[in-house]
Amino acid sequence: MTTTTKLHPRPGDPARDSGSSPPPRATSRTVRVGLIGLGTIGRAFRDLLAERRDPPPHQGPRLVLDRVLVRDPGRRRGEASALATADPAEFLDGRYDAVVEATGSVASVEPVLRALLARGTPVVTANKALVAERGPALAALAASAGTELRFDASVAPGIPLFSLFERSLRSTRIRRIEAILNGTTNFVLGRLAAAAGGLTLADAITEAQLLGFAEPDPQDDLSGVDSARKLAILATVLGDDPLPLHAIRTSGIGSVVARDCALAAASGCRLKLIARADLDAARPRACVGLEPVPHGHPLASVENEKNGILLTADDGSELFLSGPGAGPRPTAAALLDDVLCAVGAPVRAFPFPSDVPLAVGEIA
Ligand SMILES: NC(=O)c1ccc[n+]([C@@H]2O[C@H](COP(=O)([O-])OP(=O)(O)OC[C@H]3O[C@@H](n4cnc5c(N)ncnc54)[C@H](OP(=O)(O)O)[C@@H]3O)[C@@H](O)[C@H]2O)c1
Repeated sequence: MTTTTKLHPRPGDPARDSGSSPPPRATSRTVRVGLIGLGTIGRAFRDLLAERRDPPPHQGPRLVLDRVLVRDPGRRRGEASALATADPAEFLDGRYDAVVEATGSVASVEPVLRALLARGTPVVTANKALVAERGPALAALAASAGTELRFDASVAPGIPLFSLFERSLRSTRIRRIEAILNGTTNFVLGRLAAAAGGLTLADAITEAQLLGFAEPDPQDDLSGVDSARKLAILATVLGDDPLPLHAIRTSGIGSVVARDCALAAASGCRLKLIARADLDAARPRACVGLEPVPHGHPLASVENEKNGILLTADDGSELFLSGPGAGPRPTAAALLDDVLCAVGAPVRAFPFPSDVPLAVGEIA
């Protein structure tokens, strides 16, 4: 696939700067937000907005939920019922400073997002299936309308990856990505290793579900598809060309037993579901699968439902990032941060008094 538009055009990129108008700036203290999807993540985002009704100035403007688009008109939604509609046309009648999308759907939600982006409304999403499959096309549409598609909540939401890449590492060429991108499988593999044979894969999955780390249907996690989607997004942003999902050789943890973890431990390793992409090759190579990771390797230390990302640059230098991989709260916080970026909220200023020079050698 040859798409010339980066998934996440950076300031200065022609794809971003070819837009007809600059990104909107939040001039008032209230930002009107539309929300698509009121499941686990949509509700967490709604609750987060309710908690920050009157944020201090350094936390940016107040965000107000204007309207919510859902799928099932019959479902009871408590207080949110007054804002909810299942009619996309009614939702599109609203005027928003930004729209947050948290559905997990792709084809059914895409026309709504296209309509929003085409009229210049920034879209912020947690939906990795959508970004992996339609990201480059939606980002191109956003850029041509002078707005943005932002998706920090879609990959390792507790680590602000794309905000970091947007502003930093711009002179660094990343040649390899090695990562743990699925918190559910990492938790399950950790439990199997710790239980030393006393636990089945099904038991460990049930435990993850009870703790809220695994969805009721964890198939995409176990099959490696969820990791592959996130790898496709990361590699597309960091590489020269989009990495399509079908180009990633993908296997999961469906057949793993506790003995596999014990064998890995006996040889000084941890069994991990690793997503890797080699961006150096003329055609990038990418795969997701189980690998024994030696103790001492940064990814061996990624525990429980956490994610870890090891980036290797052209000169061999490495950058390792780790943090919460899933969960409603970190995902809602990532959505909120992306909305604030999308509406041009002022960035946080360092509290250094401007009249005190920080000279080298002053500190004894
Ligand atoms: N759960 C996590 O920890 C996590 C972390 C990071 C990212 N994500 C991503 O966040 C997204 C949402 O996850 P979730 O766990 O909140 O899912 P969920 O609990 O299944 O909720 C999905 C919501 O989207 C609505 N919906 C689905 N298709 C729609 C459509 N075409 N138009 C309007 N509304 C639609 C559903 O409406 P009804 O209520 O009417 O059915 C429901 O409210 C997914 O893409 C997921 O991969 C989740």
